[in-house]
Parts: sequence; C-alpha cells; structure tokens
Amino acid sequence: MTVLPQTVFAQRASFYTTSAVHKDKAVLDRLVQLAQVQPTDRVLDVATGTGHTAFAFAPHVREVIATDITPEMLAEGEKLRLAAHHSAGVDMGKDEGRIANVEFRLADAHDLPFEDESFDIVTCRRAAHHFVDIRQALREMHRVLRPGGRLVIDDRSVPADDFVDATLNRLDGLHDRSHVREYRSSEWRSMLQDAGFTVEAIELYTKHRPLSAFTNGVEAESVAEIEHIIASLNDAQRIALNVTEKDGEIYLDHWYVMVVGVKD
Ligand SMILES: C[S@@+](CC[C@H](N)C(=O)[O-])C[C@H]1O[C@@H](n2cnc3c(N)ncnc32)[C@H](O)[C@@H]1O
Repeated sequence: MTVLPQTVFAQRASFYTTSAVHKDKAVLDRLVQLAQVQPTDRVLDVATGTGHTAFAFAPHVREVIATDITPEMLAEGEKLRLAAHHSAGVDMGKDEGRIANVEFRLADAHDLPFEDESFDIVTCRRAAHHFVDIRQALREMHRVLRPGGRLVIDDRSVPADDFVDATLNRLDGLHDRSHVREYRSSEWRSMLQDAGFTVEAIELYTKHRPLSAFTNGVEAESVAEIEHIIASLNDAQRIALNVTEKDGEIYLDHWYVMVVGVKD
C-alpha cells in the first residue's frame, strides 16, 4: 500500500541532512552546469527536502525558492541554511552572504503556489518518483517557468529491461512506501514533451550501491522481502542487476537519470 510522502519523510528528515548520496557534489555540480545558470536567475527547487539542491544553486543565482510537502524536511533545511549563514558552512559555499538567498516554502508539487512564468529555472532532484501524478507536477513546473526557461530533473530511473524495471521498482517500494514509480528515460522524454518542453538532454548513470541502501531504516517484514527477492535471483538476473559481493555485503546497480527540458 502506498502511503503519503509526508509520513515517510517526517521520520527521515534528519537522515537527509547528512546523507552522502543526497549531498553528492558531482551530481549537484552537473545539475548546475546543465541548468546554464545566470546570476540574475530566479530558481524554484521542487521537493527540496533538506535543501541540498537549493544550496548548490544558491551561490550562482539571484534567488532560490525551495519547496517541499513535508514540514519536517523544510525545518531541517532551514537549520542547515542558518548554520551555513552563520558559520560560512563548508558544504554550502564559503560566501556567507549568498546562503541568504534561499527561502523555504511548504508546497505540493502538483499545485505550486506561484504565478505563471515567474521562474527562470525549475529543479527537482530525487523526488519525482514519489509524485502521485507526475504529469500534473510537470504541467505545474512548465506553467511557472518563463518561456525559454529550463527544467532540470534528476531522479532514480530504470533501464529498458522489463525485469530490471519491475525489480527495482519493487525494491524501492519496499524501501519507501511512498514510492510511486521510477521511470525509463523514454518515459521521461514523452512526459516532458507532453507537458510542453523541448527535451535538451537526457543523461543516464548508474551507481553500484550496497543492499543496505534499500534495507536501512525499513521495517523487518520489508527487509525480509527485499532479501528474499535478492536470494531468488538466477544468474541472468544477477548479471542484469550487476549483483556483486564485497566483504560479506551484497551490492547492485541503481540507475539514475538527469533530464533537461526547455519551455517552448
Ligand atoms: C528523497 S527526498 C529528495 C530531496 C531533495 N530534492 C534532494 O535531492 O536532496 C524526496 C522529497 O520529496 C518530497 N515530496 C514528495 N512528494 C512531494 C510532493 N507531492 N510535493 C512536494 N514535495 C514532495 C518529500 O517530502 C521529500 O522531502
């Protein structure tokens, strides 16, 4: 049964503050690069969580509005913003003054409380797979962008392989009961086009991660099912998921995608 993301993320908020995966500098730098930011830009970061993406963009632009549906995530983000502001935090830019240009706001991605054409860039990282109606969320992102503005998305993804697609979506559903679907790059292309974007770039990448990425913080029943899925894989399926073992721990590939759309 799918549950509301607020329920899941209210409990995980402090974890996201420090999560190495979510602070991945190479990914954040690439997103900033793909956005082709200008110092005058006004940026909307949708489903910002604790603000890692907003903080990565902040030193390069005029203003970042960082929105999320979970108040606890926004509260953690605001703590980070203040800590960086007062101590010139290492992770979020050394220019103390610049972190002042991030503002956190409570908002549902499906119903953004902003004027039409009021942003130059919209970002959304590692969150779209939670949206119950991704097409409605994309229409909203399109509406608030100015013509010529860029949408930059980074999210979990799956390759064009039915088995890998079904298995990774099942594992993520067990890891996080607010999971809806991680999409193939072909689905991203058509969803962006349907929402009115010209697709400028699609970049797929993988990360080889321990099984604990799925089992950490998860109830025992779901952990048992995750372990059963992995134990039941045949050789071809293990190859398809790139399952390996190191120091007694199982690893497998996670697929990700970065997508850039330009509003026509
Ligand atoms: C995995 S976290 C990612 C956070 C952040 N974008 C990052 O990259 O670090 C997913 C976030 O999506 C938020 N979220 C899920 N559904 C949402 C919705 N409909 N509207 C706004 N935020 C949502 C959750 O509250 C959570 O903070």
